[in-house]
Amino acid sequence: MLVLGIETSCDETSAAVIEDGQRILSNIISSQVIHSRFGGVVPEVASREHIKTIVPIYEQALSEASVRLEQIDLIAATMGPGLVGPLLVGLTYAKGLSFASGIPFIGVNHMEGHLAANLLEHPELDSHHLTLVVSGGHTMLVEVKEFGDYTLLGKTRDDAAGEAFDKVAKVMGLGYPGGAQIDRLAQQGNREYHRFPRAVLGEPYQFSFSGLKTSVAQYIEKLSDEEFIAHKADIAASFQEAVVSVLVEKTLRAAQEKSLRDVTISGGVAANSRLRVLMAEQLSRVGKRFFFPKLSLCTDNAAMIAAAGYFRFKKFGAGELAVDAVPYLTLE
Ligand code: KG4
Ligand code: ZN
Repeated sequence: MLVLGIETSCDETSAAVIEDGQRILSNIISSQVIHSRFGGVVPEVASREHIKTIVPIYEQALSEASVRLEQIDLIAATMGPGLVGPLLVGLTYAKGLSFASGIPFIGVNHMEGHLAANLLEHPELDSHHLTLVVSGGHTMLVEVKEFGDYTLLGKTRDDAAGEAFDKVAKVMGLGYPGGAQIDRLAQQGNREYHRFPRAVLGEPYQFSFSGLKTSVAQYIEKLSDEEFIAHKADIAASFQEAVVSVLVEKTLRAAQEKSLRDVTISGGVAANSRLRVLMAEQLSRVGKRFFFPKLSLCTDNAAMIAAAGYFRFKKFGAGELAVDAVPYLTLE
């Protein structure tokens, strides 16, 4: 079964073709660099960029997969959560293709897409598992009872993990988006240079990152220019350690308390090298299996949307063409 996926929820225009929820035939991703000059995504600019690129990206996805539209069995597009203008571009385009061709359509939750990146790559994963979704907009610890049946164990009270990376990167003059830059810089730094606060909170699976971001900003403000330059990598590594150690600690605790053998991470922050290493170390210590997507499936992409569409279609059948974009769509 061939599924065409379309993703435009934020600042990546992406189209992909996957086969039987397992094999990626193409996954074309165009990232909008225009936002870096504004230090964040400007929704109206993002919508206009999606309009310019959606057709060539879709055509490239089909040609790289060597398939024609008539061979596609299902069209899946992100319907939320995300920015309403950008969402509407991909969703409307996908619905138009479906209407004109008669190919069934399905609207996909972007967060279900992120967690489905692991199903796409790791068929051996227990259907009942624990997943940590960490992106620019979300931080969620979710018990997946089976595909489509989710219990939200905890989420962030304020900033998402990726947002904290981006804000700290901005304070450090590393540009936008800054998660990958911090990750790179941190590899030359000392994680124990400074202990930034870890918000443990009363509720075991809740997260909070805004205090940490403020603490890093205040710490940097007190340094001279020379000190800042000399310790830039150390600050990046120490900040990253504060985020990652909380993510790992709470995930580990949930896996043990819920007696779940398999744990996955997904979303842009799942690309973080330190998160992957520490999570693997800590989970293997207690006999848990740990899965994460390859880098290109962590940040926003349409292959994960096609995968979620495939699994959803198999379980619940096709969706309605009448669905609207839902900017605050939840997973449950
Ligand atoms: O999943 P994603 O592409 O978009 C959303 O759905 O939000 O995630 C983007 C986020 C950004 O905040 C970016 O800084 C972060 O993922 N990110 C990283 C890394 N690569 C991307 N954060 C930490 N380390 C990385 N290597
Ligand atoms: Zn995302």
